[in-house]
Formats: sequence, structure tokens, C-alpha cells
Amino acid sequence: MIIGIFDSGEGGKTVMSEIKKLLPNEKYIYFGDSKNCPYGTKPLDELKKIVSENTEYLLARGAELIVVACNTATTQTIDFLRTTFPEIPFVGTEPAVKKACDESSDTARIVLLATEGTAKAARTHELVSLNKKPGQTVEILACPGLARAIEDKNSEKIEEILSEICSALQSSEKQGSRTIETVILGCTHYPLIRDQIQTKFPRAKLVDGGEGVAKEVKRIIESRASQAYNK
Ligand code: DGL
Repeated sequence: MIIGIFDSGEGGKTVMSEIKKLLPNEKYIYFGDSKNCPYGTKPLDELKKIVSENTEYLLARGAELIVVACNTATTQTIDFLRTTFPEIPFVGTEPAVKKACDESSDTARIVLLATEGTAKAARTHELVSLNKKPGQTVEILACPGLARAIEDKNSEKIEEILSEICSALQSSEKQGSRTIETVILGCTHYPLIRDQIQTKFPRAKLVDGGEGVAKEVKRIIESRASQAYNK
């Protein structure tokens, strides 16, 4: 199968590498839309236009399944894409809220780092209310500029933004919040700087959605193969 994958740049490659681990023999076409990076600040209409164009680009090159390797685009436009291109299976990348809540203690403080678009998306808030255990807290924190700084490999800017995030979270810790147990990397660019983020949150477990996407792609491909076999 030809799998088309897109993101606003390099971030989606973190998802593609997870898919390749499970499905090394499929064909991959990757579209990194760095010209339009960041997606996180784009108005919805513009984002819909961009994701349609990305889909058309991949379909024109033979893609049979499309992975939206971007939390920002998935949380805001996956339903629109499925309606606009009903004949194509789409797999989206959502913030790994379920994984974080399932794998954390019953009273964990969990922080979700994401773009502005993902942080405000209704779907993100829905994921939290669907998955949070009663004693857990999930704070959604927008990280303006971080995806772009990662895309630009601007280490100084990355460090500056991470320090701001940390001090905001530490000051709430001083005001009585609990120590952070789990950090959700809710943007596919963030795993590219996993080690740097881990240094800032040395005691926290970091989770992302890459592996979940890979499992879903594998499930779809296997079910199509068995349908074709049974015909
Ligand atoms: N990597 C994307 C995400 O997962 C988009 C980052 C951006 O372009 O703002 O949200």
C-alpha cells in the first residue's frame, strides 16, 4: 500500500518512523509543508484549504491511505477531510491523552504541551474529559513559537521557550499544585527535542501519539487485506 503522510514540516517524520517500525514493507510518500509552518496559529478556513491541498498532492502521487501526522490539523480538520474525501481512509494524530491518563497514577498531575490551535480545539478538551480519572488533573498548555523554532533548528529560541514553560509550571507548583508526573508531547515536532524536554522535566514520563497512530494504520491495512482476500 502507498501511505501518504503530511505535517507542517519535519514533525510528522516522528510519526512516520513509528509507522515504519510496524510496517517496514509499505511505500511511503512524505510531504513536509514547511512553507506553511506553523499550522498552530492558522485560522480554521486557511487550515482547511491547506490540508485539502496537501491531500490532493498526496493523492496525485498515488497515496491510498493518508496519515495526518499533525495534532493541530487532526484536532481541527479530520472530520472535514473525511467528508471532503470520503473514498480515502485517513488516520489522524491526536494528543496522547488516553495513554497518559491510563499509564499515570490515579492522582497524577499531567501536562499537555501543544500548539495554540490544538490547545483551543474542542476535540482536545473532549479527549481530556473522556479520559481523565477523577483524581487526575490535565493542564493544557499552548507553547507559542515552539514548533516553528524546532522546524528552524533554532536552539536558542527552543531553550528560551522551554524555560518559559517550565517557570510557568514551576510557579503553579509553588502555589500548591502537585509535581508533574506525565508530560504529553501534543505536537509531532516535540519528540524531535524529547531529550531537551526531558531535561526540563527530569522526573516526568513523556508520552506521544506516534505508536498509537502506527497501530491504527496497521489495523486498517490488515483489515483491507483480509477483506480483499475474502472477496
Ligand atoms: N507538528 C504539528 C502538530 O503536531 C504542527 C505544528 C505547527 O505547525 O504549528 O501540531
